Amino acid sequence: MKDKLLEIKEKVIDRIDEIDALEECEDIRVKVLGKKGDLTQLLRGMGKLSKEERPVIGKLANEVREEIENKLTSKKEQIIEIQKKLREEEEKIDVTVNRNKLEIGHRHPLNHTMEELENLFLTMGFSVVEGPEVETVENNFDLLNSPQDHPSRDLTDTFYITDDILLRTHTSPMQIRTMKTKKPPIRIVSTGRTFRFDDVDDTHSPMFHQIEGLVVDENITMANLIDTINTFIHEFFGDDIETRFRPHHFPFTEPSVEVDVTCFNCGGKGCEECHNTGWSMELLGAGLVHPNVLRNCGIDPEKYSGFAFGMGVDRITMVKHGIDNIRLLYDNDKRFLKQF
Ligand code: DAH
Repeated sequence: MKDKLLEIKEKVIDRIDEIDALEECEDIRVKVLGKKGDLTQLLRGMGKLSKEERPVIGKLANEVREEIENKLTSKKEQIIEIQKKLREEEEKIDVTVNRNKLEIGHRHPLNHTMEELENLFLTMGFSVVEGPEVETVENNFDLLNSPQDHPSRDLTDTFYITDDILLRTHTSPMQIRTMKTKKPPIRIVSTGRTFRFDDVDDTHSPMFHQIEGLVVDENITMANLIDTINTFIHEFFGDDIETRFRPHHFPFTEPSVEVDVTCFNCGGKGCEECHNTGWSMELLGAGLVHPNVLRNCGIDPEKYSGFAFGMGVDRITMVKHGIDNIRLLYDNDKRFLKQF
């Protein structure tokens, strides 16, 4: 019986060494130590043993049982530990792994130009105001002295939302909004989006950007307008750029001018781009605020006068960076935008 006991012990211990699952531990426990287990069965035969043998075998049997139990317990702990490690390995989050790499971007060239322009005019004593892209027909056309039959009012030129509401076609309604709420002296610029029913081509987009300027005070003359524009052009584009003021017509200014600047491509010598004129045409529109516009906003044109100007932000961004296609500014292609 003693040999049997030791044989069982040896077999079971070897078996336990081999296993790697908790269920197997339980199997072995049942098969060996359970009610019908090998060891239990064997010990049932103790009755047949002599009086002297019984305590010896009994003691040995207890030792064997204890040893198997201990071995099973430590095996179980070992398996649990291994499984835990494996799980940790699987679930491990490496916080240093840079999977969805976040790239820090930068301002869009158009926003950059607008900010640069605003900062420049701030240093010249202007304040910056902001206005809505959805405007009233009244602010966008009527109060700006635009005649009822002006072509820009046409449905084919303007995005109307209702008969009285539209997407602003220029930033000039900011003149109206400012003069209706502020009394002179007024010195503001306003940048933002503007909309026209234009087909897209190299230089046109139905959505584009403008900057509007307005100065209203006593004794404002054309001299103030010319000096302000010249200062701005030299600060923004450099001292060697010259300006040329050409008579023009806008409903909201009288007199009105268009401003040309030295061709950015040839520096004024004449090239294909400027059709050999040496001038880059129509960089901005400007003029002295029409007395009707002042009156429409409750400002006495006998006491006050003013000048205003408006300019395409897209256009000056393009000439400044030598961009020849406006689509590039709206495609949002990172390869293009990254260059600025
Ligand atoms: N609003 C004009 C346009 O979109 C530009 C303009 C011209 C604005 C003359 C002005 C101005 O303030 O005085 O074409």
